[in-house]
Amino acid sequence: MKILITGATSGIGYQLAQDYAKQGHTVIACGRNQEALDELADIDRDSIKTLRFDITDIENTKQALADIERVDLAILSAGMCEYLDVKQFDAGMFERVFRVNVFGTMNTVEALLPIMPEGSKLVIVGSLARLLPFTKAQAYGGSKAAIQYITRTLEVDLKEAYGIDVLGVSPGFVKTPMTDANDFEMPMRVSVEFASKAIRKGIEKGKRDIGFPALFSGMLRVMSLLPQGMQIALSRRMAKNS
Ligand SMILES: NC(=O)c1ccc[n+]([C@@H]2O[C@H](COP(=O)([O-])OP(=O)(O)OC[C@H]3O[C@@H](n4cnc5c(N)ncnc54)[C@H](OP(=O)(O)O)[C@@H]3O)[C@@H](O)[C@H]2O)c1
Repeated sequence: MKILITGATSGIGYQLAQDYAKQGHTVIACGRNQEALDELADIDRDSIKTLRFDITDIENTKQALADIERVDLAILSAGMCEYLDVKQFDAGMFERVFRVNVFGTMNTVEALLPIMPEGSKLVIVGSLARLLPFTKAQAYGGSKAAIQYITRTLEVDLKEAYGIDVLGVSPGFVKTPMTDANDFEMPMRVSVEFASKAIRKGIEKGKRDIGFPALFSGMLRVMSLLPQGMQIALSRRMAKNS
């Protein structure tokens, strides 16, 4: 398979790129960090090709993908996280986070559609954070709630229009540079190896929402069914204890 992965220069995407290459697939690893891209290419020059572009720039993204003939599986993992301190309310943060997580991801989808044949798979990485009103997560959780909706609606329309299957990924906490920056307790945080395995297995099975780890995912999904008042009270209590 020819597999394109964004966010391949770090964390979950970096691990996925290595694991898919090990399985004998051709991987097109994407990101901005040239050093990390070179490092990846050095691991396996035959299987791993690299592309450097900024997903927030549609022209840059289209140009970078212009010479690719076909992608059988695209995993859009590029993303960023910022937490809001409401006492120093920063509207610009919403713009920064949505620019990468939502608009950048859609730039990538636009550039990919012409090179994704019938039967190919488009996998979009969201987050379990979308399920509950977590403290300080207004921008990040909001962007992932938007991505969840977009993923589901793309699932409806892309199959009909082009025969492309759309799958979503909803990770809990994964140990990556993104979460290494957090100063709060992260329950059930898993390794990138665990995340990569869960994602690859989920894609293979054609799961439409790949949530992991299972227990954390199940707990949050149940909590998201509680009345809103209870969700807010729970989140306030978690915020106090964190
Ligand atoms: N780690 C977790 O606990 C967790 C939990 C839930 C969901 N997620 C989601 O999983 C995905 C991967 O997260 P991670 O933890 O692996 O993060 P990470 O280690 O911080 O990696 C983020 C990746 O996104 C790329 N990226 C960011 N902005 C970009 C831009 N403008 N253009 C192109 N690439 C860009 C980075 O590449 P460059 O620096 O090279 O540009 C990097 O490869 C994200 O969508 C994140 O929201 C993570």
